[in-house]
Amino acid sequence: MEETKVLTQRIRPDRSAVWIDDYMDLGGYEALKTTLADYGPAEVGPLIKEAGLRGRGGAGFPTGVKWSFMPRFEDRPDERPAHVYLVVNADEMEPGTFKDRLIMEGDPHQLIEGMIIAAYAIGADTAYVFLRGEYTECRRRLQQAIDEAHAKGFLGENILDSGFSLNLHLHMSAGRYICGEESALLSALEGRRAVPRHKPPFPAASGLFGQPTTVNNVETICNVPHIVKNGADWYKSLGLNKDGGTKLFGASGHVAKPGLAEFPLGVKLGDVLEHFGGIRHGRKLKGLLPGGGSTPFLTPEHLDTPMDYDGVGAAGSRLGTATMVVFDDQTPIVGVLKNLEHFYAQESCGWCTPCRDGLPWVEKMLINLEAGKGQPGDLELLDLHVKLLGPGKTFCAHAPGAMGPLEAGLKYYRDELAALIPDDASNLSRTEAANANPL
Ligand SMILES: Cc1cc2nc3c(=O)[nH]c(=O)nc-3n(C[C@H](O)[C@H](O)[C@H](O)COP(=O)(O)O)c2cc1C
Ligand code: SF4
Repeated sequence: MEETKVLTQRIRPDRSAVWIDDYMDLGGYEALKTTLADYGPAEVGPLIKEAGLRGRGGAGFPTGVKWSFMPRFEDRPDERPAHVYLVVNADEMEPGTFKDRLIMEGDPHQLIEGMIIAAYAIGADTAYVFLRGEYTECRRRLQQAIDEAHAKGFLGENILDSGFSLNLHLHMSAGRYICGEESALLSALEGRRAVPRHKPPFPAASGLFGQPTTVNNVETICNVPHIVKNGADWYKSLGLNKDGGTKLFGASGHVAKPGLAEFPLGVKLGDVLEHFGGIRHGRKLKGLLPGGGSTPFLTPEHLDTPMDYDGVGAAGSRLGTATMVVFDDQTPIVGVLKNLEHFYAQESCGWCTPCRDGLPWVEKMLINLEAGKGQPGDLELLDLHVKLLGPGKTFCAHAPGAMGPLEAGLKYYRDELAALIPDDASNLSRTEAANANPL
């Protein structure tokens, strides 16, 4: 299946960066010039809303709606706070996810142009890229691109004589998964311990240093110049169903040709898999996590699923970051679940008890199951954990995210997991076993 290249149209096969002269030769910064010349700040958000752009960081919240929550100070400049912030979330620590890195390294000016337009739209004077700590090459390229943009007058004071000014900074993450959760990210940027904050207040009301703030994902922001340049109708028409635009899809694990590709939202799961060469070594698909390590499994019965927010939701999973992790039919599912829960247990910020204590408990049960030391009632106990750590039971979405693949694993691969519990334990209930050996 042919790709539809919008965000990846300038990405070179050798992955060398497109620097500013090439970027401008290929139409770059035209959308910024159009924005500053033809749009008032309050007019850009409605365009993004009309285009139907949804956040690409995982939750899929409509971007134009998020921007509309920002307070406006054009008519009351005296009340304007010291700063208004745009923060781009480039933490990208979701297991299996590597899409933002491709666009930041290959086309760094696309992100910078999108950030300048987004900052103008929400009235921000300061912007941050919060970058995954390990992305050192990305850091080098982004910094070079920021310096180039400054030199051309696209950043700094009075951009292109428009009266609009913006400072843009890079901040390297300390390297914890929770730093990607938007409110924990703001705590980390302030130099505090990266724990999520209670919402409300939402960042638009009180974000970074207590000032109005919008947090958006890298890929989300990279869509913005294309929408300004080509219009909302064009953008909507790219998607095959309800959701507008294209999406970066990735595949890792047991596919023949792992990598990234750009398709319209709504492309069939089977077609995406086929693009990545199908299952390697001629084997069959067992299951996949469609949008990174926190999204519930899809199975071979889901190959006709339209890969958009509603389509994947109706199939019982989430589009997430759309970077799938694929498993062939020889993969023991207990090992997959154990590795995932090990990651989530390790990455809990420790703030709330169900997550801090429940995730290591889940991991330990899976270690025992894998080692043939499971006990009758273990699967039911795991079912219970899925409920106790599910949505609404913890302070942030980390624990519910960790439960997504576990719940689906218990649903689709239950017989395989049950078969791991030794027969000689089957005549003992968990309580009897515990009483027999209270230590
Ligand atoms: C534990 C956790 C980790 C997250 N990590 C990321 C991340 O690395 N990058 C990202 O863009 N969003 C991440 N998110 C989602 C963000 O909280 C937020 O929804 C997103 O950055 C908003 O951007 P968007 O509206 O453009 O999608 C994470 C959420 C949770 C709960
Ligand atoms: S759910 Fe986990 S990661 Fe989120 S606040 Fe609670 S302890 Fe921290």
